[in-house]
Amino acid sequence: MWDYTEKVLEHFYNPQNQGAIADTDEPGIAIVYGEVGSIACGDALRLHLKIEIESDRILDSRFQTFGCTSAIASSSALTELIKGLTLDEALNISNHDIANFLGGLPEAKMHCSVMGQEALEAAIFKYRGIEVEVHEEDEGALVCTCFGVSDNRIRRVVIENNLTTVEQVTNYVKAGGGCGSCLVDIEDILAAVAEERAAMPAKLAAEIAIAQETTQPRALTNVQKITLIQQVLSEEVRPVLMADGGDVELYDVDGDRVQVLLKGACGSCESSTATLKIAIEARLRERVLPNLVVEAVS
Ligand code: FES
Repeated sequence: MWDYTEKVLEHFYNPQNQGAIADTDEPGIAIVYGEVGSIACGDALRLHLKIEIESDRILDSRFQTFGCTSAIASSSALTELIKGLTLDEALNISNHDIANFLGGLPEAKMHCSVMGQEALEAAIFKYRGIEVEVHEEDEGALVCTCFGVSDNRIRRVVIENNLTTVEQVTNYVKAGGGCGSCLVDIEDILAAVAEERAAMPAKLAAEIAIAQETTQPRALTNVQKITLIQQVLSEEVRPVLMADGGDVELYDVDGDRVQVLLKGACGSCESSTATLKIAIEARLRERVLPNLVVEAVS
């Protein structure tokens, strides 16, 4: 049996915002929906948005989901998370935000949170007239025919969630969870991403140096920012903390806010604030972006 949190069960037994949003002639209002998955594959989600055109804000959100306990709960959580946000703010919602809202999901059910994030993106892209089918992040060769998952979609989820094993990929996008004939291709994608990650610090450092020399520094993409933060933490911060029995783990990145879990001796140490500000925040500001703020979560 799956070990669901109380919050997952609460949203499964009493889902919020279930149903559709009817079209309206109300001036200044747009209704749109995005959908992902397919009933044949076992999970499908249609996410409806009611948008105030002038402010670009989500006034209401509803869902229709075919799926398991976590698919229903993730959809319900998503609608609660995005109400009142602008579309740009909503696009920053990650699958981890959905899982965190629910107090966590079993690893094997993380694909439900990914499905929510993808339906949200699909709805917003549709409203903005961007064809999801040709969105450059997700076009690409079909790797898993059982679940209709492309190579670029696997790459994207691997990078965004720092996945390293085929089993994790199956948990997050279901690819590999059927006949198994795509497992070798998934391994190849994981190896290619690992190779790119290894080469990334030097490449990014050069890009940052160039950006810092200009009057208008070029912003890092979210993927670049998260990857670089993870690299700096694992290569420059963790070895120092571990030498004193402590450790740190990246929990989430929301804009310029970096949330970390202090572990081992660091979690109970009286100097944990100094560790946070000097050993972690100062290092990340120096190596990644100067306006990052690091916070500890428990
Ligand atoms: S092709 Fe991926 S599991 Fe069958």
